[in-house]
Amino acid sequence: MPSPLRIAVLASGRGSNLAALLTARDRDELKAEFVLVASDRPDAGALRLAEAAAIPTLVLDPKAYPDRRAFDLELFGKLADSGAELIVLAGFMRILDGEAIAPWTGRMLNIHPSLLPKYRGLHTHRRALEAGDLEHGASVHFVTAELDGGPVLAQAVLPIEPGEDEQRLAQRLLPLEHRLLPAVVALVAQRRLVWRDGGPWLDGAPLGAPMRLSTQGLESA
Ligand code: GRF
Repeated sequence: MPSPLRIAVLASGRGSNLAALLTARDRDELKAEFVLVASDRPDAGALRLAEAAAIPTLVLDPKAYPDRRAFDLELFGKLADSGAELIVLAGFMRILDGEAIAPWTGRMLNIHPSLLPKYRGLHTHRRALEAGDLEHGASVHFVTAELDGGPVLAQAVLPIEPGEDEQRLAQRLLPLEHRLLPAVVALVAQRRLVWRDGGPWLDGAPLGAPMRLSTQGLESA
């Protein structure tokens, strides 16, 4: 049995994806130790969740730093000090500096609410609706210097309903995000999903297409 994976989570908002990770841990579906929850916003709900779960927290104010690189170097320095083996971006609403995150290549995941490579960046639900897409979804990917651009590991797909608005689509997608993210993190914690030779490997072979979330869990494409 591998030892519990030491995880740090970065979040700017309410923290429902962090809550899903903690629930998975409590149900023994994810063998992890949460060593830090960090945020760029003192009012982030994620920080309150972490406090309630007795997880150390950190808030860094971007305005206190001369530029993005200075902020990110400080933040990722603190993350290294925390002993984290994996960083999970769960609604962390900042673009990251390539130099600061380079040491974390293959050790940092992000959840993004679109079927990447579609709709990198913001307003993904609106953009999917405006494009007339028939389906939408969420992706978990390894983070690289390119915004929402690293290798996609797994996706959850959701049919778009006729006439639904942005808010409803986001609301319907969220429960899928809450299954997708812990499932991918659990594979990393089991050391089944690893970064090797510049890309993701699953169970000893390069991961071809992203896995897909079904009612049974993650399935290979
Ligand atoms: C999620 O939709 C996530 O995909 C996106 O930001 C949102 C964060 O929600 N990147 P929460 O803070 O986890 O509730």
